[in-house]
This record gives sequence, C-alpha cells and structure tokens, in this order.
Amino acid sequence: MSNRQNCDSGSLSALELFERVTIQGDKVRSLKAAEAPKDEIDTAVRLLLSLKLMYKATTGQDYKAGSPPTDFTPVNNAPALAEDDDFVDPWTVQTSSAKGVDYDKLIVRFGSSKVDKELISRIERVTGQKPHHFLRRGIFFSHRDMNQILDAYENKKPFYLYTGRGPSSEAMHVGHLIPFIFTKWLQEVFDIPLVIQLTDDEKYLWKDLTVKRANEYAIENAKDIIACGFNINKTFIFSDLDYLGMSPGFYKNIVKIQKHVTFNQVKGIFGFTDSDCIGKISFPAIQAAPSFSSTFPQIFKGKEDIQCLIPCAIDQDPYFRMTRDVAPRLGYPKPALLHSIFFPALQGAQTKMSASDPNSSIFLTDTPKQIKTKINKHAFSGGKDTIEEHRKYGGNCDVDVSYMYLTFFLEDDDKLEQLKQDYTSGALLTGELKKALIETLQPLIAAHQERRKQVTNEMVLLGC
Ligand code: TYM
Repeated sequence: MSNRQNCDSGSLSALELFERVTIQGDKVRSLKAAEAPKDEIDTAVRLLLSLKLMYKATTGQDYKAGSPPTDFTPVNNAPALAEDDDFVDPWTVQTSSAKGVDYDKLIVRFGSSKVDKELISRIERVTGQKPHHFLRRGIFFSHRDMNQILDAYENKKPFYLYTGRGPSSEAMHVGHLIPFIFTKWLQEVFDIPLVIQLTDDEKYLWKDLTVKRANEYAIENAKDIIACGFNINKTFIFSDLDYLGMSPGFYKNIVKIQKHVTFNQVKGIFGFTDSDCIGKISFPAIQAAPSFSSTFPQIFKGKEDIQCLIPCAIDQDPYFRMTRDVAPRLGYPKPALLHSIFFPALQGAQTKMSASDPNSSIFLTDTPKQIKTKINKHAFSGGKDTIEEHRKYGGNCDVDVSYMYLTFFLEDDDKLEQLKQDYTSGALLTGELKKALIETLQPLIAAHQERRKQVTNEMVLLGC
C-alpha cells in the first residue's frame, strides 16, 4: 500500500499545467538527445502539443518556458479544457485522472453512442443469450450503428466481424486480449464470418523494425489470437505483408479509399505532419479496406453490400470515422463498431497497458511467478497508507488497478461485488485484493499458454 500517489481527478490548475508542459518539454529534448526511436519521440511531441493547447485554453496565453502563469484571465471554455484533458488516439492514451479516461466525454467528442441498458436488453432479446460481462459492466461502452446490426440479425441478413492487431512485439499483453475475447463471444452468438487483420506493414512504418521482424511478430501474434478459440471454419486471419500482394479485391478497395481521402483530412484525423513518411499517410486506407465485404471476394462471393461490425478499443476509432465517411461515396455500407475502454497500465489508469513498457504490462508469456511479482510490486493501490487507516476508511475501487483488472477477468458477478464491498469497507486489505487478482489471472494465462501450444504453423499459414 505504499505506492499511493496524488490522484486528484479534477482539471489541472494553470500552474500544474505549466509544470507538466515543462516536464514534457524536457522529456522530448532528452529523447531527441538520446536519439530515441522516432515513434517514441513523435508520441512525446504529440502529448506536449496537447498539453500546450490545454495550457492556452486555461490561461488564454501561449506557454513560455521559464515564465510561470501569474496574472491571467481564464478563458470561457472550461468544458473544452476538461475534454482536452484526456488524449486518445491510436498511439497515445493519456489522462491526468487516476480513474482513467472520462469515457462519457469521449463519446461526446468522438460522436459515437453509449451502449446503454436499452441496447444491452435488445442484444439479450434478439440473441437469446445473457450479455457478456464486458457489456454488463460497461467495458464495451460505446458503439456506432449497433442497432443496424441487430436489425440485420433479426431479418436474417448477413453481416461479418472485422478486428485486428498491430504486431509491435513478440508477446501480446492481457489488454490485447479484450477485443479478441469479446469478438469470440460475438462470433459464437451470431455465428458469422470473422476477418482478422495483422498490420505488420503499419508496425514496420511506425516502429524501429525491419520488414522481416514485423512479419515474424505477426506470425507469433497470430498464434495467440488463434488460441482465443475462434470458429476456424469461419475465421480468416492474415498479415498485410503476406496477403495484400496476392489480393486484387483488397488492393482495388485500397486505391478507391485513397482517392476519396485528402492529405488534409488524414492530417486532421491522425495528426500527421509534413515530415511523416508517405507510407504512414496512406496506411489508414489499408486498415479501412477490410471494413468492406468486396475486399474478400473469396469469402463473400463478390457481394459488396454486407455490413461489418468492428469490435476494438476506442483508440482505433479514428480509422473507422474516416472509413465511415468514405463508405457512402464508394456505395458501401458503413461499418458498425463496438468500442471498449482501455485495460489500464499496472501503474494506474492514467494510461493504457502498453507492450513497449514491460513493467506496465502482464504478458501472455508471463509465468505464474512473474504475474504474482508484477501485481504485488507494480499494481497501483487504492488502499490507505496504513492498515489502521485502511480498516477505518476503506479502499477506493475507482482508482485501484487490481480491482479494475478483476472487473475485466473475474466473471462471477457476486464474487466481484463482495470484493468491492469488503475493500470499500476496509475489511479486505490491498494484499488480499491483489491475491484475488493473482489467483484469477494465473490460471487464465496458463490455460491460454496451453491452447497456444496446440496452434500449429500450418494453422497460421492457412489463415486459421
Ligand atoms: P493494437 O495492436 O494496438 O491493438 C490490438 C487491439 O487491442 C486493442 N487494445 C486494447 N484494448 C484494451 N486495453 C488496452 N490496453 C489495449 N491496447 C490495445 C486495440 O484497440 C485493438 O482493438 N492498428 C491496429 C490493428 C488493426 C485493428 C483493425 C484493430 C488493424 N485493423 C481493426 C482493431 C480493428 C493496432 O495497432 O492495434
């Protein structure tokens, strides 16, 4: 319980923002001096720019190094500041709140719709299945056009699932499992085809990786994805580097999309700059293309009007906002989406779990001992500083990472509720809550590793 930190969830004051811009500026400079990988520098620069914008929104003045704010008139857009306090794009997730990103505000900012009780009841009614706990617990919290998908299911009209992974490392972390676990459930419930894109081309363009290494990571990641247990007769998993060159249907859709999106648009959506390589600028069309059924003539027999449903975390939404904008101009249906919240880093919900920071993540390759050590050592606690205080005032589940992880992985609703009550009342200590998490994750990851051993290279080469 010693890893408590200041977890004020409100908006930052002008002075706090000034300090954060200064620290972030120093970080960018030291990354550049150390000749850190370009994507790491780009991410840090993007965060710096967003902090500077927040500073300006708060003080009405530009940030000036060495001149802390003294006399300023707050500008009249405080709500905009609160919204800008969270930074979410496909590469960076950052917030100052220990509770994590404010997802309700994100729904408003991204223009998506909340997965509300009514939608969950409709899913239950239409499918006759108890909604997955990711739906019941608000983990898949946002959607676009999910009602159209349910209409299609009721009217026996075909639709398909599309999701993906950017293979940036050999081992995936448990956060990456979230969309795949949920996609498996959707595939079982609706009994429909699924396509899974492995964007090894994206990772080659963004990271300091060779084409060969990115492609090898794709193969390793494919094994973890296949181990999730999809219906192998209805699933097609492919690496962009391997598959695109032999698929005219795919390439035709890529160029159609490219013709309908301007450089200005991708700059606005993804924050590309003039110094980004042209591979990055044209990549969004490659992630967009599998949203259209004509990309896969071998699966959909040339049909162009089959709608797709994309489960993913909300960081991927910018790609699909672009796709939805283009779709009607190509005569294709807009993809529907189901968005999840982020599985937080061990250190706290200010950022998502990321494969590039080993201490922030529990990997699917971790041993039971590593899982135990990482949770005991790094999982941010919402407990009090001393046992006496904890017994008296109780812990705070809203910021406690072990509790957050249990909401993802402990399926038993009653057990979860009991843990929450006991922790909040102070009856349960942080060490005991961590133990409950360790005992939940260890068998789950061990079972995943066992299933992965059964996945053969042949299954990967055949696309499942
Ligand atoms: P990638 O590899 O960053 O992430 C793969 C999937 O995992 C989700 N995700 C998370 N979900 C919960 N908590 C986290 N901490 C977390 N980190 C990542 C992502 O949202 C994604 O769903 N460009 C994509 C690959 C891609 C794709 C797609 C993803 C290609 N086509 C279609 C979704 C749908 C990428 O790099 O994902």
